[in-house]
Formats: sequence, C-alpha cells, structure tokens
Amino acid sequence: MSQVTSRLLAKDLKKSYGKVNAINGIDLHIDQAGVFAILGQNGAGKTSFIRCALGLESVTSGSLETMGNKPGSLSAKQQTGVILQDSDLPDSLTIKEQIQLFASYYPNPLSVDDTIAMCELHSFADKGYKKLSGGQKRRAQFALAIVGDPQLIFLDEPTTGLDIDARRRLWSIIREFANKGKTIVLTTHYLEEADNLADRIMVMNAGKIVADSTPEDIHKLVKGSVVRCQTQLSIAQLQSLSGGGSVTVSGRFSEIHTEQVNNTLAQLLSLDPDLQDLTVSQPKLEDIFGQLSQTGGGA
Ligand SMILES: Nc1ncnc2c1ncn2[C@@H]1O[C@H](COP(=O)(O)OP(=O)(O)OP(=O)(O)O)[C@@H](O)[C@H]1O
Ligand SMILES: [Mg+2]
Repeated sequence: MSQVTSRLLAKDLKKSYGKVNAINGIDLHIDQAGVFAILGQNGAGKTSFIRCALGLESVTSGSLETMGNKPGSLSAKQQTGVILQDSDLPDSLTIKEQIQLFASYYPNPLSVDDTIAMCELHSFADKGYKKLSGGQKRRAQFALAIVGDPQLIFLDEPTTGLDIDARRRLWSIIREFANKGKTIVLTTHYLEEADNLADRIMVMNAGKIVADSTPEDIHKLVKGSVVRCQTQLSIAQLQSLSGGGSVTVSGRFSEIHTEQVNNTLAQLLSLDPDLQDLTVSQPKLEDIFGQLSQTGGGA
C-alpha cells in the first residue's frame, strides 16, 4: 500500500457558489479509522464539503486531499466509497448486479456475496431498486459504498428517513466497518446518531467547524442541568428563573438549562404548584447543539 499520512486533510478550505460562502475556512486532519460525524443545521456546508472531498466540486481556495491524493483523481476514487445525500440507483440492474458492477471499479474489492451478507441484502439482492423500501435502498447504497473495500467512506445523511430499527441496523454495519480499520465521515441531523455512533463529532456552522471533539468532550463543553416539565408559566417567567441559562419549548415540554439547579427548582415549584412530569438531567447533545451551532467558538 502507498505511504499515506492522512486519509482526509483540509487546510483553510473555502468554497463559494457565487456570493454564497458555503465553506469558509476549514482545517481538518483525519488519519485514523473510526466514525467521524459532521453535524450542522441546513445550509451549514456539510454536503458542499463532501462534494469537494469527492472532487465533484472544485475548491475556491485552500487545499484538500483524500488518501494523500487530489480529490476526484483515479487513485483517490479507488480508495473512496460514498453515499450522496440525493443518491439514487438505476432500476435496470438488480441490486446484486449493481454490486458486481461497482466491485469491478476497484482494484481489491470485497466479494459480492460477503458484501450482500454484511449489509443483510439477501432477501432483495435479485430485485430492482425501485421495488425496495427506503431502509432497503439505503442498505443497498451502503453496499455499493463498501464493496470496493475503500479506506475512506463518505456518507451524507445515510439514515435520513429511516425508522429507528432500520437506522440502528445501519449503525451496526457502519460500526463494524469502522472496526475493520476504515474511516467513515458521515453527516447527520440526528444528534442521537452522532452521539451513539461517532468517535469524533465536528459541528459545522456557516461553513466553519465550530467544535471538533469526542462526544464525551463535546458534552463537557456545556455545564449545568436541564430541568424539563409541563408548566403553565410563560417563557419569560421561565427565563427569569434560569439563572442566565436558556429556555426551549419542545412540544408540550419546557426545558430550562440552568447552572443553579436547586435555585431554579425551588422557584419553579413555588411559582407553579401544578407543574407536571418534572425531570432533571445532564445536558444531552440536543441541549448543547443549539448553543454550539449559533457560535463561532468552542473548537
Ligand atoms: N450548487 C450550488 N449552487 C449554489 N449554491 C449552493 C450549491 N450547493 C450548495 N449551495 C449553498 O451552499 C450553502 C451550503 O449548502 P450545503 O448543501 O453544503 O449545506 P448542508 O449543510 O449540506 O445542508 P443540509 O443539512 O440542508 O443538507 C447553502 O447556502 C446552499 O444554498
Ligand atoms: Mg446536505
């Protein structure tokens, strides 16, 4: 194998579409196996980054390398697999035939049968793509991303639209692949997904990486507790007893992020004796994400 020092290396990477600065100076260095999750709100620049890393878009300035090569070069492509955000497959070949075709693009692919077994495709490998359910389609796309046995795999929102069972099954296949020494860079809007699956989480906002850490360290960025309840109190009233923390309304529940939990609870109970379903917990990624994705700091 060639001497590759980085699997993914970006230096002051920028990408503009006309006046839109989709990527606004990204520095990133990934040189080991694992699952690397990129989180960010709509329009944060996640897909633009992946498209640049695949050579599907030219970069505006800075530099970018995948597996030590120029993105889009034959050598980079032969070591890379992908599911794009809007991936679709032709219906003219069966799933098995498509896997065979993709395997032929790579110098040392996995066996087609092993790939089918790993991605649990047996029951529909002889069907056309259009006949598959959403979860089956995503597993078939994942099979095409891995059949070449690439070192580096990009998955742009691989589990969007899947039910929780299908999502968890795909997580376990992704984890298995990471455990075999592969690097998986995935984007997601599911914070639970990043929390459960990723070895490292990068939060993007407005084309920049504003946090880059292990899930454990990302959690430590925000201190305090989250008080959750059903209450008649207004947001302004809740804000006044948060001790400077944030208040969010999530469906029927109000959530107060506070660093003075005893104080907040005492005031809350005295102001609203009828409050229901009170819980106190540590901040979850959901509680932290809103703050991180508004800031330019935290990395
Ligand atoms: N081909 C394009 N032409 C012009 N503008 C584009 C193009 N692709 C993306 N953009 C713009 O670049 C910015 C980043 O978009 P991008 O698709 O990278 O975001 P994203 O983080 O993947 O969002 P989402 O979570 O919605 O998929 C947005 O403002 C978007 O409108
Ligand atoms: Mg996207």
